[in-house]
Parts: sequence; structure tokens; C-alpha cells
Amino acid sequence: MQLLDGKKTAEDIKSEIATEVQKIKNSGGKVPHLAAVIVGTDGASLTYVGSKVRSCQQIGFESTLVSLEDTITETALLDKIKELNADDNLDGYIVQLPLPKHIDEQKILMAIDPNKDVDGFHPANFGKMALEMETFLPATPFGIMQLLERYKVETSGKHTVVIGRSHIVGRPMSILMSRKGYPGDSTVTLTHSRTKDIEKFTKEADIIITALGVPNYLKADMVKEGVVVIDVGITRVPDASHPKGYVITGDVDFDGVSKKSSFITPVPGGVGPMTIAMLLKNTLLAREMKIARNA
Ligand code: GUN
Repeated sequence: MQLLDGKKTAEDIKSEIATEVQKIKNSGGKVPHLAAVIVGTDGASLTYVGSKVRSCQQIGFESTLVSLEDTITETALLDKIKELNADDNLDGYIVQLPLPKHIDEQKILMAIDPNKDVDGFHPANFGKMALEMETFLPATPFGIMQLLERYKVETSGKHTVVIGRSHIVGRPMSILMSRKGYPGDSTVTLTHSRTKDIEKFTKEADIIITALGVPNYLKADMVKEGVVVIDVGITRVPDASHPKGYVITGDVDFDGVSKKSSFITPVPGGVGPMTIAMLLKNTLLAREMKIARNA
């Protein structure tokens, strides 16, 4: 069993980006600038956005945190989006999800300038991804692709089973793994809450990517020997013995499943840190694409 070490790989990628930033600075250029919009005070969202902004500082990006009250109207949020779209000083930005119930998430995502959409959530970018055109890949799927690539995991002709069809992880992951090239060229099954007998699929999968949010869902008796397992689950499970009062738990029963795996991601320290590294990579790409458009 080999661990797919997302923590280390993310640090490698961040230091590669930091080197690029240094080159930009040395040549008198403007460093990439990322903004993150957060609406409300959800604990997990605040943690993620805080990490994104800290990572920018770590590698020399400019960053802006836009914190908005959870009572903000949809119109006021759309006005903020317009402002960010028009801000020439900004290369890319994200709107942290989920948004409060009274705000139409699709409407907000549609309003983001696709050239600044470093999350890759705008339909124009999602479409380009599906059509194998150059664009921003959603950060978590992009991170998974990088892990597979950097650890040279074989994907061609393999049966990849994705669990969960969210717009952020499962659906894009199923598209990316079916695309031509490496990593990709997989035969993909996208399973979800209405799938009958998920075990039937997981038992014969060569690669399992689980983004379900059910702690310890995938057990050793549900996978075959030599399987590659990517765990995207990050559920906060209450645990009084832990200083924070919870432990981050993945979808995979790691102790059991790792014994049968050829490669497996840990939680924490697997996919999570990769997401932030790839967001930074997308921001660097946004800056390059902006320079190319203006040339
Ligand atoms: N919420 C959970 N994951 C993500 C992400 O990758 N981007 C944004 N904007 N919100 C999220």
C-alpha cells in the first residue's frame, strides 16, 4: 500500500508556484491576486476560506477576503460580484459555498466572469472541461488528478467508480476520468443516492473516488484487492477527547480498506490540502490568460 500524500504534494505544488511568483517579482510584474467571498459565519467555510487566504500569503500572492453578513440580499451580492468582475486589479475570485438558503446559488455562479472563475464552477468553464478545452478545473477534482499523476497511478482502461454526483466533486470527477489522455481514459460509473446496490460496483472497481460525506462508509469487504482509493469525505464527527471537540473523518474505513489498497489517500492530509494548492494554480493560470488576452 502506498499513501497518496496530499499534504506533501500540496506543499511541493505551492513551492513550485512560489518560485513562479518570485520570477514574476524579479521581472517587475504584478503578482497574482485572489479574492474569496464568504457569506455568513459557518465554521467549516470560515476555516476553508481562512486557509485559502493564508496560503496566498505563504506563496506571495496578493489576497482579499470579502466577508458579508448572512442577511445580505441576493441583489446586494450580485452587485458585489459585478464589482469584483470589474476590478482590474484582481485575477480571480471564488464565492465560498454553500450560500444562505435565500440566495440562488446558480444565479450567483452564473454572474461570475468566467475569466475570473478560478473555481471552474461557471457553466462556460464546466462545458470547456467536458469538451477537453483549456480552462480552470474545479479545485478538488484538479487536486485528485494531480495526485494520480504525480504518483503515476495507472488510469487507462481502468474501471473508476465515483460515489456522489455533486457539482463540485462527483460530477466533474466522472467527466475528468473519462476524458482522453492521462490521467483519464477510464471507464467511469457515477453512483449516487438512487443507485441500486452500490457495493456491486465498488467490489469490481479498480479506482474508487468517494465524495459522499458519510464517515467510514466504505469498508474492506466492499473493495477488491489492489484497489486505488481516493477519499474526499471531510465530515466533522463530534469527539469530546479532541481539543476542537471534533475529528475530521473520511468516507473510508481507512484501517480496513488500506490493507487491500495499492494506493489510498488519508484523511486528513489527502485530498483536502490539494484543493487549496490547485486553487492557487488556477489563479496563476488566470493571470497568464489575462496577460495573453491583453497582448
Ligand atoms: N465549498 C466546498 N468546496 C468548495 C470549493 O471548492 N469552492 C467553493 N467556492 N466552495 C466550496
